[in-house]
Amino acid sequence: MQYGYFDNDNREYVITRPDAPAPWTNYLGTEKFCTVISHNAGGYSFYNSPEHNRVTKFRPNATFDRPGHYVYLRDDETGDYWSISWQPVAKSLDEATYEVRHGLSYSKFKCDYNGIEATKTLFVPKGEDAEVWDVVIRNTGDKPRTISAFSFVEFSFSHIASDNQNHQMSLYSAGTDYHDGVIEYDLFYNTNDFEGFYYLASTFDPDSYDGQRDNFLGAYRDESNPIAVEKGQCSNHTQTCYNHCGSLHKQFVIQPGQEVRFAYILGIGKGNGARLREKYQDLTQVDNAFAAIKTHWEERCSKFQVKSPNQGLDTMLNTWTLYQAETCVVWSRFASFIEVGGRTGLGYRDTAQDAMAVPHSNPEMTRKRIVDLLRGQVQQGYGLHLFDPDWFDPEKADVEPSKSPTVVPTPSDEDKIHGLDDTCSDDHLWIVPTICRYVMETGDMSFFDEVIPYADKGEATVYEHMKAALDFTEKHVGATGIAKGLRADWNDCLNLGGGESAMVAFLHYWAIQEFVDLAKHLGHDDDVARYQQMATKVQDACETHLWEDEGGWYIRGITKHGDKVGTAQQAEGKVHLESNTWAVVSGAVTPERGQKAMDAVDEYLYSDFGLHLNAPSFATPNDDIGFVTRVYQGVKENGAIFSHPNPWAWVAEAKLGRGDQAMKYYDALNPYNQNDMIETRITEPYSYVQFVMGKDHQDHGRANHPWLTGTSGWAYIAATNYILGVRLSFEGLIVDPCIPTDWPGFEVTREWRGATYQIKVENPQGVSKGIASIQLNGESIEGAIPAQAEGSVNHVTVVLG
Ligand code: GLC
Repeated sequence: MQYGYFDNDNREYVITRPDAPAPWTNYLGTEKFCTVISHNAGGYSFYNSPEHNRVTKFRPNATFDRPGHYVYLRDDETGDYWSISWQPVAKSLDEATYEVRHGLSYSKFKCDYNGIEATKTLFVPKGEDAEVWDVVIRNTGDKPRTISAFSFVEFSFSHIASDNQNHQMSLYSAGTDYHDGVIEYDLFYNTNDFEGFYYLASTFDPDSYDGQRDNFLGAYRDESNPIAVEKGQCSNHTQTCYNHCGSLHKQFVIQPGQEVRFAYILGIGKGNGARLREKYQDLTQVDNAFAAIKTHWEERCSKFQVKSPNQGLDTMLNTWTLYQAETCVVWSRFASFIEVGGRTGLGYRDTAQDAMAVPHSNPEMTRKRIVDLLRGQVQQGYGLHLFDPDWFDPEKADVEPSKSPTVVPTPSDEDKIHGLDDTCSDDHLWIVPTICRYVMETGDMSFFDEVIPYADKGEATVYEHMKAALDFTEKHVGATGIAKGLRADWNDCLNLGGGESAMVAFLHYWAIQEFVDLAKHLGHDDDVARYQQMATKVQDACETHLWEDEGGWYIRGITKHGDKVGTAQQAEGKVHLESNTWAVVSGAVTPERGQKAMDAVDEYLYSDFGLHLNAPSFATPNDDIGFVTRVYQGVKENGAIFSHPNPWAWVAEAKLGRGDQAMKYYDALNPYNQNDMIETRITEPYSYVQFVMGKDHQDHGRANHPWLTGTSGWAYIAATNYILGVRLSFEGLIVDPCIPTDWPGFEVTREWRGATYQIKVENPQGVSKGIASIQLNGESIEGAIPAQAEGSVNHVTVVLG
């Protein structure tokens, strides 16, 4: 069953049936102000942190995605009313037609009902901490109509998200006020004029207004039937105390064929409501702001565009996967309809991996995230698993928390820097390749010399931070010399403690290789020798202790009691995705073993929805292995199709030269391919999810936790860098694809350091991998393509064979 389609020309997903089985969301905002909005206009806004500066309310875990950012329309001749989004009034779909276009940082709602066509476009202008609602109401009938419009948002009780659940004082410590088309909402205990000061404004002069939620909705009513809309008039009431809303009402008489257009503005900061109300009364300013959002994304997307025989791959890589990856980099993990601002901050490993995907499209944010992460690394080399970058921001550290609701007190070192028991064994390793990729993209070699403080004490250059990360893992190995599992590795639920993690050993090997390439490039021969030696030691330990001969694959780890996890004799948790993919991705193992391991992945873990994380799932609790054995079967880390490691299998297959296999896995996970099976998938088809229920669960195929998952970053990296094979090295641009044998070729446009590369790959022999020739601007060339002059357009032809 299908609820919409991809409109590639506009980079939009168009929802044609609003009764999709779950709210399908989008993210508005590219800087500090963010709104998570569903296709029914449910959702919430926040400034910077969804936990600490919540602007509007949201009730999670309810059957409705409410409240939201709504516009109601009322026919003042009949009293009939509806909303521009299907919810909350929910007119019968036989009477009204709805269409929602989720675009890049905007959502456009359209409703046709009884001779009135209305649209509402929500977006956050660049440079403003506000959300604009651009509303157009058109009379498509043949007689004049008298139509009232009402806005509705419910302001957050407090700037702290969780206070909305249980904070009695919030009821008495905030209030609304109304002046000249602006409802201002002030948190009484707020001590500055920006944070904790929200508003809703309109570009029209309102006929009536409401700042009190219960006056607008009425007792024993909800957003579907507000008393104010029913009556056609708000109560003109604002006050201190209770629950607050922003409703501004205006009546319009619209002639046949005519339209009215106006804007609502929801934002933060005293005085900004009046300022933006005036600014956007000139509606060309709204058009300009919207055009700037379009340009923002066009510029980012244009850094890498592909035209291949696989429409689903093109659609996702050209638009949606990059958009999702950027969303993760900018907003991290705690703002969605699943995570609703219960926490704040950056997960170490998540951020390091997210940032790895976007140096080309967002170098500024990549750099910022790398610096955040290095500030969150302790001198010993490991990273603080979850931390708030504001703790380490010298500007924020100067501000007294009482003066600013968003500044949370910096915890003491003891609270912040936990010991090894709380350390994850993989976190710090991801940062090494991420830094290399950032520098390959930008060419900013001086970044390696930049001095950045450690979280606990001391400071070091970026280069030394990288060494500290590699050295930490070298020192923390278990009985066999394989890296310790510590609190967890990439798999949060695999808690091997003093036991050992195969995945981290392989990851360590990979990170060392990346570092050795860098050290060679910098001419640091001592480091080259030292780290090559470290790599050999890790490789030997892996091949000696991790190969499971009977099964023909790599085990997942060893418990602190010396029991292997993931052997042929085990009935549960026999084969694991992370260790087998990383064995190959890392380059640590022989091609024969690598192929066998990936054959086992296919045999035991493949399904039409992607690769399972492990199989068979665990049914017997075993605390030596970890919490994974206590998660229900087929769910999350216990035998679901956990999406994030799936792209590691694409990389592994690409490295083995098996392009058909890589594409089989790519296609299985691709949400695009599930657009016509929403009755199974449930969740939006333009976003990867954290996990899809595995075959050991009755909802096999159901997708859970969209948007905020490391899958997007890795899907982007794996498909662009390894399947299409267009990637960077310190020497230049490499084109080394591994594609399905039935692809006659493909084209990529890549912008790199100001030059454009129009790459045409031809596959006359029907192979997957192997380069017969490369031409740059008509000249034969071997190896990497060096950076060309800024502004140049270069033609690269690659023939496989
Ligand atoms: C979640 C976490 C991520 C972890 C993964 C597997 O996605 O955000 O850090 O690697 O689960 O446990």
